[in-house]
Amino acid sequence: MDPARISLRPFKLSDVDEFLKWASDDRVTRYLRWNTMTSREEALKYIEKVAMPHPWRRSICLDDLSIGYVSIRPESGDGGCRAHVGYAVATEYWGQGIATTALKIAVSSVFKDFPDLVRLEALVEVGNNGSQRVLEKVGFLKEGLLRKYGYCKGEIRDMIIYSFLSTDMVL
Ligand SMILES: CC(C)(COP(=O)(O)OP(=O)(O)OC[C@H]1O[C@@H](n2cnc3c(N)ncnc32)[C@H](O)[C@@H]1OP(=O)(O)O)[C@@H](O)C(=O)NCCC(=O)NCCS
Repeated sequence: MDPARISLRPFKLSDVDEFLKWASDDRVTRYLRWNTMTSREEALKYIEKVAMPHPWRRSICLDDLSIGYVSIRPESGDGGCRAHVGYAVATEYWGQGIATTALKIAVSSVFKDFPDLVRLEALVEVGNNGSQRVLEKVGFLKEGLLRKYGYCKGEIRDMIIYSFLSTDMVL
């Protein structure tokens, strides 16, 4: 995959059909906090009420076709030095370096967009090896295992925490 074909931009309502293709896929939502979507109306509402007003959520685009997302959410108040990272890509595009390219683009611009931001963190389930590999390829540091850290799909999970500081180098 030529990385030049990958770009990030805000979501648009017209992304709804492409968005629903992966948001309705259990293989994509398995490790995400939100549940698999089942209708176009639900997807439209999500784009309008969640994705578009989000402080920094971008559509991952392949030649401007929306095929996934990257989101970076700074914490409020004194936590503004820290932001949580999330991402997903439609299954038909897995294994082509797309999430890695998208996250590199995001990391390269987000510290300019949020001047108080110093630290990005990502929490990944122990079994989500593909996501751990993405973070390592971008240059995130694996900091440790958080035992029984949080719920996902009704089950409490062990998570691995990764970080990337504003002074770190994108690989
Ligand atoms: C995780 C995800 C975003 C990766 O997207 P992608 O575009 O396929 O990622 P990339 O191609 O950039 O890199 C994936 C890497 O993981 C590796 N990988 C994939 N599945 C793997 C597995 N089961 N075990 C080990 N490595 C795996 C790939 O080989 C690749 O590494 P390589 O380049 O060294 O070969 C995608 O699988 C996804 O959307 N998953 C569901 C949502 C999710 O888990 N989001 C993250 C929540 S923390």
